[in-house]
Amino acid sequence: MLVYVPPHPLVKHWLAIARNAATPSALFRSACAELGRVLIYEAVREFLPTVEATVDTPVGTADVEFCDPTKPIKVVPILRAGLILLEQAGTVLPISETYHVGYVRDEETLQATAYLNKLPQRLSPEDRILVTDPMLATGGTMLKVLADLVARGADPSNIRVVCIVAAPPALKAMADLYTGLRVYSAIIDAELNEKGYIIPGLGDAGDRAYG
Ligand code: PRP
Repeated sequence: MLVYVPPHPLVKHWLAIARNAATPSALFRSACAELGRVLIYEAVREFLPTVEATVDTPVGTADVEFCDPTKPIKVVPILRAGLILLEQAGTVLPISETYHVGYVRDEETLQATAYLNKLPQRLSPEDRILVTDPMLATGGTMLKVLADLVARGADPSNIRVVCIVAAPPALKAMADLYTGLRVYSAIIDAELNEKGYIIPGLGDAGDRAYG
């Protein structure tokens, strides 16, 4: 499994804003949205199918490539917090389809339970899928979503995960099961505390964004 942390000053900047406990909710959302934009830009490099064409420029003819309108990238935000990463996604992805899933993690057991699933019944191994969730802590939530995608026919090598903070337990669990998966994260933090929070992390992203 490849884990990529873009060495980009904008990633560092917006992560600094998101990490700060004094950042108000509206600015927190906007910082996460900017991180989503930059990380999605990286995640779709060599991932978006294109078609060749020619266009007339004002002074000639040019060979060009467009994103293939018949192969929209499938975006899967894990509610609630995964939605924040997609607020600016329209400026990066010209063609996409969104399939919402909702999971909540029990604060005691740390087990994730689904409360919404809008995934299509069947997926194709050729489908390019982008899953967004700002936090990978134990990895329990992401593993359930990945298992569901694969059970419906998705190829893990065509799935890319976009997150803001990833912790080693989640990355190890995901790497053990899905060698072809790619993860794009703003940072990898050191550990989880006894409550399953990433330390230093950025707190509960869903609560900070949506109350
Ligand atoms: C948080 C976070 C991830 C999950 C990470 O969501 O956004 O989905 O927990 O934990 P895990 O890796 O240990 O499963 P939460 O359950 O708080 O829901 P929310 O997004 O609605 O706040």
